[in-house]
Parts: sequence; C-alpha cells; structure tokens
Amino acid sequence: MRKFYVVGNLKMNILSREEVTQYLSVLKREAENKHYQHVTLVVCPPFLYLSQFDDLPQGIAKGAQNLFSEKSGAYTGEISPVMLKNDNVEYVILGHSERRRYGGETNEMIRGKILAAIKHHMTPIVCIGETEKERRAEETDRALELQIKTLFSGFSKSQAERVIVAYEPLWAVGTDVVPTTGEILQVRVLLRKLFTEMFDAETAGRIVILYGGSVKSSFLGAVSWEAEMDGVLVGRESLFPYELVKMMGLFEEAAGKEL
Ligand code: PGA
Repeated sequence: MRKFYVVGNLKMNILSREEVTQYLSVLKREAENKHYQHVTLVVCPPFLYLSQFDDLPQGIAKGAQNLFSEKSGAYTGEISPVMLKNDNVEYVILGHSERRRYGGETNEMIRGKILAAIKHHMTPIVCIGETEKERRAEETDRALELQIKTLFSGFSKSQAERVIVAYEPLWAVGTDVVPTTGEILQVRVLLRKLFTEMFDAETAGRIVILYGGSVKSSFLGAVSWEAEMDGVLVGRESLFPYELVKMMGLFEEAAGKEL
C-alpha cells in the first residue's frame, strides 16, 4: 500500500501554551472526522510543548526535533530518548541543517542519535542536503554520498530500513527557492543506488525518502509523488495547521489515483 508522510517541523516557533492550544484546536477541527489511510502527519513541536500534543486525530503522530544519544545522566540541557518515548513521541527529526549549523552537529554525532532513536523504538527522520556552494560546484552527489555513508555506517539492513531520510538542499530551506521535479528525482535515484550498494535492493526500496525545503501545498505533487518521493518535510507552512491537513488530503487523493 502506498504510504506518504507529511512532517511538520515547527522549529522554535509558537511561544506560549495559549498559542499551542490555539494551534491544536485548528489542527483538530481540520483533521477530525476524516479518515487517512495513505498518509501520516507527524507534527514536531518544541520539546516544552510535546505533552500538549496528545490525543491527536487519526492519522496524526507526535514527533520531536532532536534528542541526545545517552539514556540519562549528567548532560545538562539535553533530552533523553527515553523521556521522549515515555511521552508518546513516535518520530524524531535528527541532523536538521539548523542543528548542524547552530548546534555544531556532525554526521558522526547524528549517527549516534539515529541509533539511540532506533534502540528506543522511535523512527528517526534524518536530514541530509548539499550547500549552495556544493551545488554550484556540481558536487551534490559527492556531498550526499559522504553524508549517507557516514550516517548509515555499520548499520544492519533492519536498522537502515527503520530510518526516514529527508532530502533538504540547504539552499532551498527557508528561501522559497525550490529544486525542479527532475533535480529531486535525480537525488531519489542516487539514494536508491547508494542504499542498494550499502545494503541491497529490497532494503533500498523500503527506506522512506522525503523532500524538504520551502514546500507549499500549491506545488506538492511536483516535489513529492512526481519525483518519486514518499512525502515532505515542511517548515514555515507547518505554522498553519490547515495547510498541513490540506497536504494530507492531497496525498490521500494522489495515493488513491495510483491504486
Ligand atoms: P521551510 O523549512 O519549509 O521553511 O523551507 C524546511 C525545513 O527546514 O525543514
């Protein structure tokens, strides 16, 4: 069965409990009494508000924006995967370009976080992507290959297929510049090839790949199903819950047509 994902990354937005309540009331109003068979929406609020994101309508799951790779201990300011799991978090975004940039995260650190998420039965949504400079120098493939090889190094097939990869070209994040369907498709093909070489074709076929970077519902198909992607990672537009629900509807419709 065709399955799509919409991941809403709220980043460091929504600044009070009252705003969260308002956000949730719109989300629930829009999504309630609908049935989603082919799409899951993963909403990723800031840590502080995760506990308010319980009792979500059918088809909607809760995700976090980061975690720390250790279970507990003297790690001031960090969040344990066990805390997240115990708070019903099912998904976790890891290695977002903003964490790499502002938090100094490396592929090696992110790899440790992926393993921690898997160990504690959460699905990691792992971001990769080339910079504008790498793109201009036609080094996109090389940059992505290096990231994938480090992030998945030493993984078993069963670990690899638990990972969701989000391809987010850095030049498309927060810029309103979007790659063409053809460019996204090329990356899809590259990732499938890399995963086939590292694991096997079956595993490569099972790894979910999303596109992220300036996604809007008005051109959803062009950056997802038309480019053979399994869904999208959404930043700014996720601040509008009705937009996320609109995307769920569009995916549901697209999946129906493919049957
Ligand atoms: P954007 O963010 O949709 O605002 O470009 C995407 C992201 O950072 O995941």
